[in-house]
Amino acid sequence: MNLIDGKATAKQIKMEIATEVAAMIDAGHEGPHLAAVIVGDDPASHTYVNGKEKACQEVGMTSSIYRLPEDTSEKEVLEIVDFLNNDDHVDGFIVQLPLPKHIDENKVIMSIKPEKDVDGFHPVNVGRMALGLPAYISATPFGIMELIKRYNIETEGKRVVVLGRSNIVGSPMSILLSRKAYPGNATVTLCHSRTKNLKQIAKSADILIVAMGQPHFVNEEMVKKNAVVIDVGIHRVASDQTKSGFRLIGDVDFDRVISKASYITPVPGGVGPMTIVSLLLNTLKAHKKEIYS
Ligand code: GUN
Repeated sequence: MNLIDGKATAKQIKMEIATEVAAMIDAGHEGPHLAAVIVGDDPASHTYVNGKEKACQEVGMTSSIYRLPEDTSEKEVLEIVDFLNNDDHVDGFIVQLPLPKHIDENKVIMSIKPEKDVDGFHPVNVGRMALGLPAYISATPFGIMELIKRYNIETEGKRVVVLGRSNIVGSPMSILLSRKAYPGNATVTLCHSRTKNLKQIAKSADILIVAMGQPHFVNEEMVKKNAVVIDVGIHRVASDQTKSGFRLIGDVDFDRVISKASYITPVPGGVGPMTIVSLLLNTLKAHKKEIYS
């Protein structure tokens, strides 16, 4: 069994980004600039945005965070989006989700210029991704694709099973791995809550991507010998083994699946650390105008 070490890979990629950014700045150019908009007091969202800010600092990128109160109107958020769309010093930006209930998230996402949508949430980026055109790919699928590449995992002709059909993970993963490219050229089955015989289908997978949002959903009986197992789940559960009184677990029962898998991502330290790095990579691409030239 090989552990797919997302934490170490993320660290390595951050070093690569930092080197590239330092070279730009040393040459007298402006470095990449990421902006983020966060509305309201959701603690998890603040933790994520703080993490994004810290990651920018670590690689030498500029970040601007717009922290707005819960009662900010939709119009005000749209005005900030408009401002960032037109600010030539900002390469890309994100609006942290969820937004307060009085704001229409789709309307906000649709108002972001696709060229600056480093989250890859705008329908233009999702559509371009599906067509195999250059596009910003959202953080989790991008991170998984990067892990597959960096661990030289063969995907061509393989049977991939994706568990979960969310817009930001399951659905894009199924599209990306069936594209004519590497990683890709796989035969993909997308399973969801209405799938019949899900356990048998999972067991047919050479590569199993689990994004169901159910703690320890996958056990050794659902995994083929030598399968590659990618766990996207992250759940906080009570534990008397840790000082904090909780621990993080995935959608995969790691201890039971580990002996079956050829490669497996742990939780924590697998897919999770790759997501912020993916946002940094998208910001770098935005700065270099790699996607929309
Ligand atoms: N909320 C949870 N994850 C994300 C993300 O990747 N981007 C944004 N904008 N909001 C989120």
